[in-house]
Amino acid sequence: MSSPLAIARESFADAPAIVPNVLDRSALDACFLGPYGENDSLLEKLVVEFLRDHVYWRRNFHPEDPPAIPTRAAQQPGYQAFEARMRRELHALSAALKKSVPFHSPRYIGHMASDLLLPGLAAQLLTLPYNPNNVSEDAAPVTVELEIRAGLQLARMLGYPDDPARADCAFGHLTSGGTVANYQALRLALALKAFPVAVRAAGVPDIGVPDEDWAAFNLGTGAGIALLDAWQRWLAAQPERDRREWQARVQAQRIETLGLVDFFARHPSLRPPLVLAPVTAHYSWSKGMKLLGLGRAQLKLLPERGMRLDADALQATLEHCLRDRQPVLLAVAVLGTTEYGTVDPVDRVVVARDDFAARGLAFSVHVDAAWGGYLATLFRNADGSLRTRAEVAAEFNHFPLPEVHAAFAALGETDSITVDPHKLGYLPYGAGAFICRDHRAVALLSEQADYVFDGNGASGYMERYRRLGQYIPEGSKSGAAAAAVYVTHRVLPLDHAHFGRLPAQTVRAAEAFYARAQRFARELADVVHASVPFPPDSNLVCLALNPAGNEDVARANAFVRSLHDELRCDPRQPLQLKEFFGSITTLRPEALGIADLHRIAGELRLDPATFEADADRLVILRHTLMNPYLIDAENGISYIDRYFDYLAMRVRAQVA
Ligand SMILES: Cc1ncc(COP(=O)(O)O)c(C=O)c1O
Repeated sequence: MSSPLAIARESFADAPAIVPNVLDRSALDACFLGPYGENDSLLEKLVVEFLRDHVYWRRNFHPEDPPAIPTRAAQQPGYQAFEARMRRELHALSAALKKSVPFHSPRYIGHMASDLLLPGLAAQLLTLPYNPNNVSEDAAPVTVELEIRAGLQLARMLGYPDDPARADCAFGHLTSGGTVANYQALRLALALKAFPVAVRAAGVPDIGVPDEDWAAFNLGTGAGIALLDAWQRWLAAQPERDRREWQARVQAQRIETLGLVDFFARHPSLRPPLVLAPVTAHYSWSKGMKLLGLGRAQLKLLPERGMRLDADALQATLEHCLRDRQPVLLAVAVLGTTEYGTVDPVDRVVVARDDFAARGLAFSVHVDAAWGGYLATLFRNADGSLRTRAEVAAEFNHFPLPEVHAAFAALGETDSITVDPHKLGYLPYGAGAFICRDHRAVALLSEQADYVFDGNGASGYMERYRRLGQYIPEGSKSGAAAAAVYVTHRVLPLDHAHFGRLPAQTVRAAEAFYARAQRFARELADVVHASVPFPPDSNLVCLALNPAGNEDVARANAFVRSLHDELRCDPRQPLQLKEFFGSITTLRPEALGIADLHRIAGELRLDPATFEADADRLVILRHTLMNPYLIDAENGISYIDRYFDYLAMRVRAQVA
């Protein structure tokens, strides 16, 4: 029989979401607090309502228990002094926070941050006083399930199987951010790659373990999971005493028990595997390699073409690895690069994985979609099916290029994905997510050796993952963040007609920005050479600038840096003195490749020979166009036009 708690949980999480077919303009007006705090009374109503609700909950727990804090306490001097001290510090904090970066404003086009979605903000505020700890169901009977369900919501958006009744259902969990999600990808890929080697070393009979280490280390994700399954079934069929012994034998051979040094010493025909990632990969990959003990030297950065991973270079590197018997752990594709918003050819990486697995060099494919993950909503129908390129393109001028559509269409065939609700999901920080296509592999991460029985149906999907702390890199973690993600996805389902309306606005803004940048370049041709180095794949647009008459990269960089000084946060100045906020990044010759280097230098009339030791990269402006109010239809204001007018003024002032 279900417990009352289970009934309550089911009735909340299983209730069908009430959503209209498409979101109209007026519904979008209710999504955010707004640049002017327009929806203040809506948020206030929600906060007060649910704070009161929380208090009633406390009072109704055991109403027979009298209040422990006396009603007269508030009149006592100690109480009042404490309250005064608290207010003073809170006022000081509130005053200091006025120097915060105005992410909510359409004048902010710097980094990957914007306004927060009200359903998420309200769900987070409402959950905080309950303080659930999503390490396990014991400390978070409601929100741990919401986290698992949020993982399934994201899995569906990405094209992974999301029905927990399926043996190969996906699994996802939240992390503190994209950095930890990327680390989880490394951890899982290594566990799965090394497991068949451990089973072989332990001498497990009858389950089809390859007969040499290289083959065992190159089984690949699908066959690796099948082997794990076979091992679990075989073990379950053993008598109790033997079972424990076999379990201990395999455990003793695992890379997680031995550590890298001992594992590779015992398997001299194997070398530590490489991770292949594009040069534009986020620095979290380097951190992850160090944390895992594989070392930064095992991270091989591959060149780009048009700021997208060069699939031919990937192919050549893999050929080399196959020839050298150099194992590969993971190939990383980035879906929305941190600096340029470009989309790597995920489809071609998947094809390379399958081709090379057939030739004996197996590796997993991870997509770092920390930034671009939620753009996948544009490509999904409400029933989870993929939209054609023509259907998606109907709303835009250029988006999505065929390569971009192909990359999103291939997501469902990858092995794992990072996607950050705290970026394009418009939710508060502390919400990254790691999703893997087939949950069964996750058993290998368990701190208690439950990989022994997982997959046997010994416990259901939900029951297993309610012990979330077993599988995640963190321990204690915020249940309030999970509530925010889950509730937001319920209010705005992750398809093109609902959540997709938000990224659609950002892509349209990027298209408008791109067109306006080209006009800017024409209009200011007498004072500055300006170019967008790469047409935007998504919603991040860069602008390279060089004062007319200059050919020297170092001087162009100084010029852009001084423009950026006017666009950057400066806590020593009142915020209001800033007209706009932008950011900068760089173009490095080794990342660009010689052809693009010469093309961009030509557009800017720079001498490529001036890329030298003191100016080994070109500094450019970078704009993240995620604010929903960049084009203010209500007042007929384009903050994009205003930005370019402002930039034109600053450029003219600089060159004068
Ligand atoms: C592509 C990509 N991956 C990973 C990260 C790291 O995410 P976080 O800062 O949430 O840890 C970022 C952050 O900007 C990113 O853009």
